[in-house]
Parts: sequence; structure tokens; C-alpha cells
Amino acid sequence: MTAKDPHRFVNELDAAAIERLIARLESRAKDKVFTRLFDRYAPELVPGPEGQVLEVGCGTGATLRSLVRRPDFRGRAVGVDQSADFIDAARRFVATEPFADQVEFDVGDAHRLDFPDASFDIVFAHTLISHVTDPLSVLREMVRLVKPGGKLAIFDGDYASMTYALPDHDLGQRLDAALVKASFNNPRIMRDLPRMMPEFGLKLESAWGEAVVEIGNGSYFKSFVETYAPYIVKAGFFPAEVVEPWLAAQIKAIEDGTFFAACTYYTYIARRV
Ligand SMILES: C[S@@+](CC[C@H](N)C(=O)[O-])C[C@H]1O[C@@H](n2cnc3c(N)ncnc32)[C@H](O)[C@@H]1O
Repeated sequence: MTAKDPHRFVNELDAAAIERLIARLESRAKDKVFTRLFDRYAPELVPGPEGQVLEVGCGTGATLRSLVRRPDFRGRAVGVDQSADFIDAARRFVATEPFADQVEFDVGDAHRLDFPDASFDIVFAHTLISHVTDPLSVLREMVRLVKPGGKLAIFDGDYASMTYALPDHDLGQRLDAALVKASFNNPRIMRDLPRMMPEFGLKLESAWGEAVVEIGNGSYFKSFVETYAPYIVKAGFFPAEVVEPWLAAQIKAIEDGTFFAACTYYTYIARRV
């Protein structure tokens, strides 16, 4: 049984699976839960007028577009992602925006990027660190790329806390764990980062956590489970005969107004000392 986090192994997916992930990233960015989480720390990502921001693991560029769209954003923004398909989509989506000339998208591996040291005023990663092969190498690379005194921001879920209600608690717990293991390479990494930051030359300036909870209705967690439940079967953790009824029970709970799902998310804003 092997879990293959679809965002870590995106370059091994077929065209249809990539299209589904592109659609998921774009629809997620419009979800009110997602926009609330991003908008809370987006002001921290606005550089001075000549400043440069880098988003590592930018996907289809949805978060970077939200940032550059802000009326107070006057700088330049660069997004990098390992997936050439996501970067093509990002370039397509930004092309019609009035701020297109402030944004550049490039293919690159977050573990070793081509930019010179200290190229950026702000470097951030929005739901990247939970997916990468080696989160501490990515952190080191982010620190290398930010100027001394510059800002580094990391946002992600503590996915080990993700849960969907099911009357059979034991099965529900095992399916939660399977969903998380199939979808995230590093579901607990946000617990480690505050401890690691000083070793990487970072001073944590502010940090907060938020419980994302959908009770009765569900949009954010509905889209999540619909997209990633098939990867539980693909990883061999549970057969489709178990996963499909579980997924159907979640959708029915939404239709009935009895849904429950939750996960905690964390935002860390640090400075390179
Ligand atoms: C959940 S998506 C987040 C995309 C974007 N930040 C957003 O919030 O819409 C995670 C992204 O990380 C990218 N990724 C994973 N490992 C990577 C790596 N080693 N280098 C660059 N990008 C990577 C994936 O290709 C994917 O686009």
C-alpha cells in the first residue's frame, strides 16, 4: 500500500486527474472559507512599491492573483510550481487580469530554485509545505531566497486534525486517517515549524490557528472529500466498496443539513534574522 500525495506526485498524474486538480484549486480559491483564511494574512504579504514577493508552490496562481488584485499591492509577484500544467494554467488565468504585467509564473522545484540568494522581500507558501518531499529543505530554500530582515509566511492545515463525522466512530476514524495519509505527505508539519524556525535563522513574529468547521452544510470539506477520497482507493487503504458509501454518507448529510467536518489551520509569519 503506497500513498502518493497527488500534489507531491502531480507530474505522474494523467491529464484528466490534472484537470480535476486545476478545477479544484480554482474553485477552492473562491470558497468563502478559503478566502477568509487567506485574506486574514494577505496584508502581511504586501511589499513596498518596488518590492518583490515569491509564492512557492503557487499551483494555478489563485492565491497570487488574490494578492496582486489587492488595491494596496504595488510590487511584483513571482509564482513557482513544479507542475508545468499548473504553470500553463496560471499564465492563462492571469493573462486577462489588469495586473498581469506585475506577475510572472515559472516552473521550479521548491527544494532548489534557480533564483539568486536574497532575491525577494517576502517569500510565502500557501498549502505547500504539507505536500513536499522534504519540508525542511523547502524551508531552507525559502530562507535562502528572502532578504535578511525580509518576511517569510507559511500557511497550512494541521491535517492530522481533519475529521468527518460518521455514526461508526471506529470506521470514521480509520477513514479520516486514510484520507489524510492519501492526500498529504506531511500532515503534522505545522506542529514542528515553530520549533524549527530558530535553527533556520527565522524569528517567528506572529502566529495564529483557526478551526475550520462546517456544521449542517458543507462546501469546503465537500469539495475536499470529493476530490481526494478516490486517492484512498488508489493507495489501497480501503476498497471502493467502503469509500464510496462513506463519501455518499457525507454528501447525504450535506443534503439533510446534518453534516459535520473540521480541521485546524495555522499561519506563521516569521522574519529572516
Ligand atoms: C494544494 S496546492 C496549493 C496551490 C496554491 N498555493 C493555492 O493555494 O492555490 C499545492 C501545490 O504545491 C505544488 N508542489 C508540491 N511539491 C512541490 C515542489 N517540490 N516544488 C514546487 N511545487 C510543489 C503542487 O504542484 C501544487 O501546485
